[in-house]
Amino acid sequence: ATGFSSPAARPLHPFVPSYDASLSGLVLPAGFGWGVASSAYQIEGAARAEGKGPSVWDFLTHQTGYVADGTTGDNVAEHYWLYKEDIARLGALGVPSFSPSFSWPRFFPFGKGPVNEEAVAHYDDVIATMREYGVQPDVTLFHWDTPLALVYEYGAWNSPQIVDDFFEYAKFVISRYDEHVHTWFTINEPQYCNWQWSGYPVSELWPSFEDVPAAGSGLESRFLCGHYSLLAHAKVAKWYHEEFKGQGRISFKNSGNYYESYTNSTADLEARQRWFDFTIGWFGGPWREDGDYPQSLKDTLGDLLPTFTEEEKEMIKGSCDFYALDGYTSYYVWASDTSEECIADPTTPGFPECANSGQTNPDGFPLGPSGDPGVSWLTSAPSGIRRFLNYITKELHPSVPDIQVTEFGFAEPFESQKTDINSVLWDLRRAEYYQGYLDNILMAIHYDNVNVTGALGWAIFDNFEWGSGVSVRFGMQYVDYDSLERTPKASLFQFLNWFKEHPVGG
Ligand code: NOJ
Repeated sequence: ATGFSSPAARPLHPFVPSYDASLSGLVLPAGFGWGVASSAYQIEGAARAEGKGPSVWDFLTHQTGYVADGTTGDNVAEHYWLYKEDIARLGALGVPSFSPSFSWPRFFPFGKGPVNEEAVAHYDDVIATMREYGVQPDVTLFHWDTPLALVYEYGAWNSPQIVDDFFEYAKFVISRYDEHVHTWFTINEPQYCNWQWSGYPVSELWPSFEDVPAAGSGLESRFLCGHYSLLAHAKVAKWYHEEFKGQGRISFKNSGNYYESYTNSTADLEARQRWFDFTIGWFGGPWREDGDYPQSLKDTLGDLLPTFTEEEKEMIKGSCDFYALDGYTSYYVWASDTSEECIADPTTPGFPECANSGQTNPDGFPLGPSGDPGVSWLTSAPSGIRRFLNYITKELHPSVPDIQVTEFGFAEPFESQKTDINSVLWDLRRAEYYQGYLDNILMAIHYDNVNVTGALGWAIFDNFEWGSGVSVRFGMQYVDYDSLERTPKASLFQFLNWFKEHPVGG
């Protein structure tokens, strides 16, 4: 089936409110995997403990000005020490899955070479604890914590050597834990690779720039890093099925928001297509017949876009077992007045999207107080996810067998709230977000026949939000960073209650 076939005949444009009594009694399909997610650097703390080597983030967070509030992930929630309690609580609350990431520089402090046995013992026990409490691990192998040693050795993700080093790390972890892990995510959101973890920002900030090999410009780095990410993923996936004969499923996680064109003008529709091409389309090779980049990227980027050999394209094609989508919100997109200039000059700000996008507050949630630094995080647009699930599986990549929403969540700026802890815990906007978002996933399943097989909420608790530090919070539990106490927010109960109302059935 193509397009929407909703018996509820809901208008699809503009965005609609998310509550729908007609959903009551509907259940989730058998096997639907739901739970909560996070990543190693964002929650573990213990940055120098038990033999861990430094990652790019241990470097970046210690550079003045890199993180908005000056915080680091050195300690944050100390999940590295408190994992037993954290997992026990998930078990007690009946959360079926938890998706953490494992830390490459803990296993291999220099990125390669001898394994750190303390890390092995630690993650062995993390897995054992999850088994003990009946929480299914869905593990991400790499969530942006590139071993710093590899940056200095060869420029990390700017070099093809990263493919083999990632492969060795992945083989080690998968071989050890595959019997317990049914879903593997190789790489988190390659769409973000340049600024977040490629090695390029390190080389830019390092005082003696020449010491870091060949990172190139930020733009070059962006496309090199994306290129080697795809190859690294595909090499692991091929090995996983063909040689290792793993018993689970494997994919990488895509970062993508949904874009609705602001008008139906050709220019706006083209801008929308460009936006998709340069975000999720960029990493659509696994689902494309040719295993390659979209033509529009090749045309626009020319030599900036590296090329795959025929053999590499073959390896990339079909290398994901399902589509993993981290999709948080939706925007309108419209053609930029300067789009021609933008296409001609890849250094123009806004390149390569060459379009404007704007948040719309589509479902009527109030935005934060004006002037609030966190205001741009307060976006919610639950109805967009239904359209996005339809768009990906029916228009963009019809070969996708099923799609899992591997992250979705709602941030609030902490600074303006912290004097009133009740307003932090009584997080009704986040609660409404989860309700509306899950309703729309259910509508995609029941009304539109989209094969959605999972949903993981971001995040298990407050954590280190990269460039924003701890000033922006996504948790369904509040973390007091002095006492390390975790306190459930209202949204956690809303989230759990939704799954009680719509249990996994058949
Ligand atoms: C996606 C990233 O994977 C995660 O690390 C981040 O915290 C969330 N988006 C929220 O920005």
